[in-house]
Amino acid sequence: MHYARNASSLEGSATLMYTAKAAAMKAAGADIVSLTAGQPDFPTPQAAIKAAEKAMAEGKTLYTPSMGIAELRQAVADRWSAVHYQDYKIENAMVSNGAKHSIANMLEAVVSPGDKVLLPKPYWVSYPQMVKRLGGVPVYPETGGMLITGDDIRLAAASGARGMIFNSPCNPSGLVNTREMIEDIAAAVRETGIWVISDDIYEDLYYGSGRVPHILEADPGLKDQVALITGVSKTYAMTGWRIGFAIANPDWIRIAGRIQAHTTSNPCSISQYAALAVVTGHAEEERVQMYKAFERRRDLICGLLDEVPGLAFDRPEGAFYVYPKILSEREINTEKFCVSLLEKGGLGTIPGSAFGNEGYIRLSFAVSDDDIAEAVKRLNSFLERGDFK
Ligand SMILES: Cc1ncc(COP(=O)(O)O)c(C=O)c1O
Repeated sequence: MHYARNASSLEGSATLMYTAKAAAMKAAGADIVSLTAGQPDFPTPQAAIKAAEKAMAEGKTLYTPSMGIAELRQAVADRWSAVHYQDYKIENAMVSNGAKHSIANMLEAVVSPGDKVLLPKPYWVSYPQMVKRLGGVPVYPETGGMLITGDDIRLAAASGARGMIFNSPCNPSGLVNTREMIEDIAAAVRETGIWVISDDIYEDLYYGSGRVPHILEADPGLKDQVALITGVSKTYAMTGWRIGFAIANPDWIRIAGRIQAHTTSNPCSISQYAALAVVTGHAEEERVQMYKAFERRRDLICGLLDEVPGLAFDRPEGAFYVYPKILSEREINTEKFCVSLLEKGGLGTIPGSAFGNEGYIRLSFAVSDDDIAEAVKRLNSFLERGDFK
C-alpha cells in the first residue's frame, strides 16, 4: 500500500502519548502523579452546560452554517473587537472544532508546498506537523532565545519565510513576550509583510498586569496580516467541547471557511451554543476563580521548584506550564529521562524533545496543590538518585 508522502511522514502527538501512558499506568493501579495534561482540571461552567441542554431540548441538533452559527460568530467578533480595539464584523470570525482546527484551517489557506513558515522554538507540538502536512517548510528562530524576536522575523523573511505562527503565552514554557519585544515584532511584521497566525489560546491566563502584550496592540494597522486564534478550551475548561475561533481579514476567513466546509462541515451545534453562553459573559465568575487558582498554583510550583537543585527555569508568566532545564554535565536524552521518571519515579511529565528542545521537561500545574507538592517531591528524589545519567 502506498501512503501519501506528507501524511505518512507526520509524527504522532508526544503530549497526547505521554498523557495517555501516565493515565493508563494510573488506571492499572500504579502510584502515578501526572503533570502531563494540557487542560484545566476544573469542570465546565454551568452556564455552558445549561446552554447545551437548552440547545438539545430545542432541537438545535442539526447541521449549522459551516462557519458557525451567526450569533456565535457575531459574539466572537464583538468580544475580540473590544479586546483589541478593532471593528471586527461577522465576516471576520469563524468557528471551528477547537483552536487546533482553527489553526489548521487558517494555515491551509496560506501555505503552498515549499513555503517557509517561521515557528517558535520551543513550539507547540502540532505546529511543525501542521506545516509539513501542507508541504510547507518549518524554519526556526536563529537568535537562540526561548521566544521569537523581531530579528528572528527579519532573518526568516530574508531567507524567504512568508509567514509565522506566534504563541505568547507560550506552550510549553509559559513565557510571554514583553511589550518591548512585541513592539519590535510588530515593526518586523510590518517591514517584512509576512502573515501571522497569533495563537492566543492562553491569552486569558496571563499573570502580569493588564492584558497580555499583543502585536495588534503595538500596531493595530496590522489587522489584515494577523489572524487571531483563540477559543474556549483553556479559558473556560471546555477542552472536550471542541470549539475554537479564528478572527482575520474576510478573504482569509472565506478561504479557510471553504476548507472547513469540504472537510468537517460545521463544528458541533450543541457545543456552539455552550460556547455562546461563555463568550457572552455568562461564566465570568468561574473564569476568574480558575484564573486565580492557576496563578496561585504557579506561585506554589515555582516556590517548590526553586528548592530543587539541578533545575533551572524562568518563571512562567502565563498558561499553566513550567519548563525547567535539567542541569547536567552530560547531555541528557529527555525522552528516556521522562520514561524513567514515569516508570521509576511515579511522575508523568513531557520531554522537551516534543517541543524541539533537548534537556527540558514540561510540567503542567493544572492539577491540585497536593499533586503539585507530591510531584516536586518525586522529581527531587529522582534527580537526587541520579539514575537517569
Ligand atoms: C498552544 C496551543 N494552541 C492551540 C491548542 C489547541 O486548543 P484546542 O483544544 O481548542 O484545540 C493548544 C492545546 O493544547 C495549545 O496548547
